[in-house]
Amino acid sequence: MTLGVFERGTGHEQVVFGYDRATGLKAIVGLYSTALGPGLGGTRFYPYASEDEALDDVLRLSHGMAYKNALAGLPLGGGKAVIIGDPAVAKTPALLEAYGRFVDSLAGRYITAVDVGTDAADMDIVATQTKYVVGRSAAAGGIGDPSPYTAFGVYQGMRAAAAHRWGSESLAGKRVGVAGVGKVGHLLLGHLLEEGAEVVITDVRQEAVDAVRRLYPNIAVAADTDELIRTELDVFAPCAMGGVLHDGNVDALAAEIVCGAANNQLAHPGLADALHRRGVLYAPDYLVNAGGVIHVADELHGYDADRVRQRTARIFDTMREVLTLTEKENVTPLAAANRLAEERMAAGAPAAASR
Ligand SMILES: NC(=O)c1ccc[n+]([C@@H]2O[C@H](COP(=O)([O-])OP(=O)(O)OC[C@H]3O[C@@H](n4cnc5c(N)ncnc54)[C@H](O)[C@@H]3O)[C@@H](O)[C@H]2O)c1
Repeated sequence: MTLGVFERGTGHEQVVFGYDRATGLKAIVGLYSTALGPGLGGTRFYPYASEDEALDDVLRLSHGMAYKNALAGLPLGGGKAVIIGDPAVAKTPALLEAYGRFVDSLAGRYITAVDVGTDAADMDIVATQTKYVVGRSAAAGGIGDPSPYTAFGVYQGMRAAAAHRWGSESLAGKRVGVAGVGKVGHLLLGHLLEEGAEVVITDVRQEAVDAVRRLYPNIAVAADTDELIRTELDVFAPCAMGGVLHDGNVDALAAEIVCGAANNQLAHPGLADALHRRGVLYAPDYLVNAGGVIHVADELHGYDADRVRQRTARIFDTMREVLTLTEKENVTPLAAANRLAEERMAAGAPAAASR
C-alpha cells in the first residue's frame, strides 16, 4: 500500500498537484519550508514509473533545497517540482506554458529553475507565463552557466576544511584527487593548481581527460574513481555522479578530507558516521556546492556578479562554523550542517535578513 502525503510525515509545508487536460501536464510542486522566503528549486522532467515515485522524489528534493538555501544564507526557502513524463517525447511548448501557468498560480511561493530534463530554453517558455522563474537563457535575460561559482564555492569549502584539519587554509603542496573533470571539476582543478596543490584526475570520458591535459600536460591521471580513492591523497573531490562513496569502497579511501561538487556523494547517510569514525572530514556536499544556486538566485534581484562572488565566498565561513559545531557537539559535519540549517529555518526570515 502506498502512503499519502500526510501519512509520509515528511513535514512539508505544502504539496501541490497540477494537471492540464489539454497538454497532459502532470506536475507536482513540493514546498518543504518557506520560513526564509519563497521556495526556490528546479524542475525535474523525468519518466517516473509511478505517481508515487514522482511524489517521493519531489519530497526528497524540496527538503534538500530548503537545507541548501538556508545554509547558503539566501533569503529563500526550499521547493522543487517534478513533471512526470519522458522529456524527449512529452516536452512541448504548450505543456511548458501550462506548467508556467501552474507555477504562476502559486503566486510566488515557489520559484522554479532548471534541473535534470529541463534547460534554459525551457525556462524561457515558462517565463512567458510567470515571473517566478530563474535560469533563463542569456538571450532572454538569464545569467548563464553556474559552474564557475559552484567550483569557486567548493574551493572555499575545501580551504575551510584544510584550515580545520591542518591548521592552515593553504592547499599548496596538498595532493587533491578530482573525480570528474566536467564543467565544475575542471574549473576546480584550475583553482587548486593556481594555489600550488598537486592534482590527480580521473574521468570516464577520455575527451574530458584530454581537454585537461591540453591545458596542464603534466597532470597525473588515475585509471578510474576507485583507483583514485585508493591513491595517497590529502583531499578527495568527487565532481561526477552521486553515490561515489559506498560501503564497498569507503574503507579504501586514503584522503583525510572529502570535499567536492557532486550531489549526494554518500550512497547512504550512515556513511557520514563511517567517515567520521575513520577520522575523515566529510564536507557536506550541499553546503560546498551551493555556489550554483547562489548564482542562479541572484537573477531575482538583477544579477550582480560581485554580490554572487561575495556570497559564494561565505561558504568558507559557513564551513568553519559547521566544523566548530562538529567539535563542540561531537557530531559529524553532516549532522552539524543539518542542525545549522534547521536553526536558521526555525529562526525564520527576520533573523535571515539581519545576517
Ligand atoms: N554545474 C553546477 O553548477 C553544479 C551545481 C551543484 C552541483 N553540481 C553537481 O556536480 C557534479 C558535476 O557537475 P558538472 O556540471 O560538472 O557535470 P558535468 O556533466 O559537466 O561533469 C561531470 C563529469 O563527470 C564525469 N563522470 C561521470 N561518471 C563518472 C565516473 N563514474 N567516474 C569519473 N568521472 C565520471 C563525466 O564524464 C563528466 O566529465 C554533478 O553531480 C552535479 O549534480 C553541479
